[in-house]
Amino acid sequence: MTARQEKDSCALGILALSWNLLVASLPAEVSASCIKAIDGAGLPSMTIKGDGSGEYSGYTLDLPNGPLCFSTAKQAPSEGYMSQNYKSPIHTDQLYAPYAMNWVTLHSIMDPDQCQLHGDCSSGGNYVDVSLRVVVKCATDTVMSMQPKFKHGTTLAREGVCRQGTAINFSRHIKKAFDKAIAIEGDVKAMVTQLVEEKK
Ligand SMILES: *[C@@H]1O[C@H](CO)[C@@H](O)[C@H](O)[C@H]1NC(C)=O
Repeated sequence: MTARQEKDSCALGILALSWNLLVASLPAEVSASCIKAIDGAGLPSMTIKGDGSGEYSGYTLDLPNGPLCFSTAKQAPSEGYMSQNYKSPIHTDQLYAPYAMNWVTLHSIMDPDQCQLHGDCSSGGNYVDVSLRVVVKCATDTVMSMQPKFKHGTTLAREGVCRQGTAINFSRHIKKAFDKAIAIEGDVKAMVTQLVEEKK
């Protein structure tokens, strides 16, 4: 494996693990409605270059005691993120599935002096849905699903804190680009020409 393939394979494993854990932990209504939307959207599962199997299943985790393979587990859907110290002003997102999902894998005070937390004051970076008036405090191993068509964002985060997580999104703009690429049979040059023409 090349260094690139090894890195891709790590990311694939992390996102496949995220997807399988999210689907198993979230309410069945959330998981089932997203799986239905994925099937309807016709987007392939996440895969890596050079993985010619076309099977879209299985992943391997490189653990300290050696590799652990889940050969029959489902791979993640087509869009996933690994983020660090994500924060965002209030916005809405257009998805082709009813929910987006995420997993806070780490929330840790790295530098208490810099962070200046007194009493039960929050270190920030918490998820907010302003339509529901709900705040979900950022904490390690929190999983959540949300309806991003409603206004949402995060609170400001203090310095000296590290937050990491994974997210599975179903962005309409990505599906649109994929559909367009399929329509022109992956001819990227034609796609760019078409986009330039549309802009004119
Ligand atoms: C992923 O989805 C969440 C919820 O819609 C959104 O806040 C976040 O910005 C999305 N991330 C990306 C990179 O699209």
